[in-house]
Amino acid sequence: MNEDIPQLPNYDEPSLDAAFAILAEEVRGETAAHLDAEAFRLRWLGRKQGRLKLISDVWLKSAPAEARKPLGMRFNELKQQIEAALADAEAKPAKGAAKAGIDITLPGTVRAPGIEHPLLKTMHEIVRVFHHLGYSTALGPQVESDFYNFEALNFPPNHPARDTQDTLVVAGQQARPSRDRLLMRTHTSPVQIRTMIADAPPIRIVVPGKVHRNDAADATHSPVFHQVEGLCVDTNITFSDLKGTLDHAMKALFGSDVKTRFFPSFFPFTEPSADVQISCIFCAGKGCRKCKSSGWIELLGCGMVDPAVFASVDEQRVAMGKTAAYDPAKVTGFAFGMGVERIAMILHGVSEIGQFYSGDMRFLEQFA
Ligand code: PHE
Repeated sequence: MNEDIPQLPNYDEPSLDAAFAILAEEVRGETAAHLDAEAFRLRWLGRKQGRLKLISDVWLKSAPAEARKPLGMRFNELKQQIEAALADAEAKPAKGAAKAGIDITLPGTVRAPGIEHPLLKTMHEIVRVFHHLGYSTALGPQVESDFYNFEALNFPPNHPARDTQDTLVVAGQQARPSRDRLLMRTHTSPVQIRTMIADAPPIRIVVPGKVHRNDAADATHSPVFHQVEGLCVDTNITFSDLKGTLDHAMKALFGSDVKTRFFPSFFPFTEPSADVQISCIFCAGKGCRKCKSSGWIELLGCGMVDPAVFASVDEQRVAMGKTAAYDPAKVTGFAFGMGVERIAMILHGVSEIGQFYSGDMRFLEQFA
């Protein structure tokens, strides 16, 4: 680069004016030629080999003392011109780059508004049906103690009924009494116990929530899923009330043509217990693939609250200094529990439970 350092014939004003005018012209010429901004910066402002440094070194070295100041001022001016040109060049795309621009005639980017997830939507629909019947919502923790999840619900320690609801347990609790050990709740039923310990009858609650089981995932099972629980306790609550309530709820959810039927079943915390079936909504009970030609679809579990549950609730209330309030001779009640995924699958004809958890927009958009 040394080779083209211009000569400075003299240090008087006219000579300086002429010499710096040539340099300024050189800078303008290079920017007009759309030189790449970084190359331009290096060429003029490079610390060691930059043109500004090389020229000023040569010119200042041979300058008489009185010419140093005007010369320095001119170099400062030139530097400012170079920096301005550089800022300009950086703001514009380099030579050859596509010219950036906005086509204001293009339609804007339309963002879809968010929607409720189909599972939450179904859960809210179920809860709403019971709100209309005067029920309120109660919630409980997903990490639950053995007492609330099993023992108070009449699943004694080591009882085989626990095998139907295997789950994850929190590690490192061997030192605790078994009733205090923590686990992921296997159903929403522990909230029955929490509510009855806290409040005396009458009780009318629905409990939506997430539950966990050590079940292998397949088309209709997931180790994490959702339930809506119901509990009604008062004087003179009978099995007819249970049947009437659930028959109404199923008609409200699936349409008024739907029929219900009750089969004997078993849950440790209800006696008697029943499984509820609805007439197949796909074939109106005639028999199809969805209902395995039976005309009926099994949907939920229910029953009358077992006196043993009332007994453990009262025992706990008294231990806490509250009054016993659940004498089975005076109060009766019913409970029910349903799977949200199962109901959502039937309502929307979804055949793979995994779709609900996939986050696949093509699936989710259908519920918008
Ligand atoms: N908790 C039971 C289950 O998850 C369902 C149920 C709830 C049955 C309430 C009867 C009464 O299988």
